Amino acid sequence: MMICCLQPVLLLVVQLLLSCCISAAPSSQNNFFYNQFLSANGNKEIYFSGVKLHVDSAQSSVFAVRGGNATLPCRFWYEPELSSPREAMVRWSRLSAAGGHETDVLVATGSQSQSYGVYRGRVELRQDFQGDAALVISELQLNDIARYRCEVVDGLEDKSTRVNLELQGVVFPFQHPHGRYQLSFLGAQQACEEQDSMLATFTQLFQSWKEGLNWCNAGWLADGTVQYPITRPRVPCGGHGLPPGVRTYGRRHQDFHHYDVFCFSSSLRGKVFYLQPSHKMNLTEAQEACQGDGAQIAKVGQLYAAWKFAGLDRCDAGWLADGSVRYPITRPRRNCGPAEPGVRSFGFPPPQHKHGVYCYKLGDE
Ligand SMILES: *[C@@H]1O[C@H](CO)[C@@H](O)[C@H](O)[C@H]1NC(C)=O
Ligand SMILES: *[C@@H]1O[C@H](CO)[C@@H](O)[C@H](O)[C@H]1NC(C)=O
Repeated sequence: MMICCLQPVLLLVVQLLLSCCISAAPSSQNNFFYNQFLSANGNKEIYFSGVKLHVDSAQSSVFAVRGGNATLPCRFWYEPELSSPREAMVRWSRLSAAGGHETDVLVATGSQSQSYGVYRGRVELRQDFQGDAALVISELQLNDIARYRCEVVDGLEDKSTRVNLELQGVVFPFQHPHGRYQLSFLGAQQACEEQDSMLATFTQLFQSWKEGLNWCNAGWLADGTVQYPITRPRVPCGGHGLPPGVRTYGRRHQDFHHYDVFCFSSSLRGKVFYLQPSHKMNLTEAQEACQGDGAQIAKVGQLYAAWKFAGLDRCDAGWLADGSVRYPITRPRRNCGPAEPGVRSFGFPPPQHKHGVYCYKLGDE
């Protein structure tokens, strides 16, 4: 008597445990979708006797441009091959820079799919062939840069692969108007965002170092470390004894420690141009002059992007949105700064000083 009643109770406990954990794993807005999938597939559950699910990606990194589309490859297949196709669940998620934390991008089964958060309406599964689970993201933004996970779930089988999304871009060092080493980690993040850019990742800084970025001030990176790229060792930057490389101070305290920052900006849809009416302007007049032209005073990230991707070359110093004065040179020449191409800076002159201005206008004329 006792024994026969125990079993249903145990079963109930197991069911409760299962339902609690399944609905707790994804964020709450997905509960409906997951449960629906699990119950729908429950009926036609097959027990894979030696059938293995495989998932992989043809590329571990995908490069794209801001405003464009990217396809993150992912495909799955069974071994041995199945005679009839099965409906697996595909879940794309985004991994945080620090690792661990995951946010849902898209969850799909068969022809049904749902996208989440900032990806809503911008993502879809490609599904060009059986087992194609590639993710297409459109209208790419700077903060789409991340590591993504493609997970395929079929019955008890659950396999995944990872793909990095990178945007073509340019890394630039940035300093607070009050001078060197003024930015906390949060301040650094905000400073980049205000200049149409984001905190650079180590991969981006490393790439820039390979392309010749040589900078002696240490700056925050997206992972909370502080580093600086040296291509030509010299005395004030660690001395001649150290080889060239990206040098790191390691992870620093995000509030107590202050540094400069490395920001990352990507190609632009609009246009940056130099404006100088009949006379030179102080900072307020410069901002107004751009507005009078249907534009905005250019942000530092926009000037760098125009220099790098549109070949902007102008030997005239102009105001920018952060209150600095700079000019972009792609064809180095006499009286236009050093022998290498670059964006030259005059720092932050007093706002009543008179210069031209760089403006930014959306649109392509
Ligand atoms: C991006 O994809 C959408 C459809 O998803 C398409 O309409 C658009 O033309 C594509 N844009 C580019 C730049 O390829
Ligand atoms: C710029 O000049 C205008 C006068 O043309 C003046 O009103 C304004 O205060 C000046 N701004 C700065 C930052 O010097």
